Amino acid sequence: MNDESVTALGVDPCEGLGLVDTGTGWIPPSIPAYCEETYWWAYLHPRSVWLFEREWVVNLILWGNMHRLTDAVLDELAEPLSAPVLQVACVYGDFSRRLAQHTRQLGRRLHLVDVAPIQLENARRKLAGQEVIFHHQDSTCLQFAAGTFERTVVFFLLHEQPAEARRESIAEALRVTRRGGKAVFVDYHQPHRANPLRYFMHPVLKTLEPFAHDLWQRDLVQWLPPGIAPERVHSQLYAGGLYQKVVVDC
Ligand SMILES: C[S@@+](CC[C@H](N)C(=O)[O-])C[C@H]1O[C@@H](n2cnc3c(N)ncnc32)[C@H](O)[C@@H]1O
Repeated sequence: MNDESVTALGVDPCEGLGLVDTGTGWIPPSIPAYCEETYWWAYLHPRSVWLFEREWVVNLILWGNMHRLTDAVLDELAEPLSAPVLQVACVYGDFSRRLAQHTRQLGRRLHLVDVAPIQLENARRKLAGQEVIFHHQDSTCLQFAAGTFERTVVFFLLHEQPAEARRESIAEALRVTRRGGKAVFVDYHQPHRANPLRYFMHPVLKTLEPFAHDLWQRDLVQWLPPGIAPERVHSQLYAGGLYQKVVVDC
């Protein structure tokens, strides 16, 4: 499979931004209610991009772990790739640039999906020259054929979604990843009792990110669809348990 076969699916005619209906019947996704109501200040307001689109800000929000968590994702892309990589949802800072460069070094291109046009515009600006392919889609109903990607990466999206959307996003990430490939999820996790951040982050997340609590109550592994053999799932904790990486062999 080459990267062209992804865009040849024809469901996302704007391929770049998906902002224009070209008459193919493709309907751009609308912004989900949780995004509008809970996260407008972080992703939808024009000043949010101005404020957050800095590596040091994201690194501060992640308590200095941005580089480490990005490396944890790149560790899952070690051999030459025979299909492209998908990043589900934009991330502020350097994450996508590093992922795109790494993917290119392994012989493929990065595809990036987001539901918010303002985020796709911003990503297109900051990733100019990186040969990334942008798609205006919703993570809960991706418009790619099953098995399109060799790696599918979901970085800090799931804690922002209500349970139903989270389950659908996970299922979709697994569906579009080819057999022999991997789906890589990185997100919050309930820290160990001895980690002081446990007591600080709990009220912070509860106030600002109401759905994040779910991932404290139940590990990300418990949100995977039933029937995935345990030996296909690999989890690792970071920063005293505040973050988790879950990799599913597809
Ligand atoms: C990946 S998450 C959080 C990333 C991280 N906190 C950061 O530093 O940017 C944020 C992105 O998810 C996108 N998003 C939220 N719900 C989505 C959905 N259902 N489908 C696709 N993108 C979605 C938002 O538009 C936003 O660009």
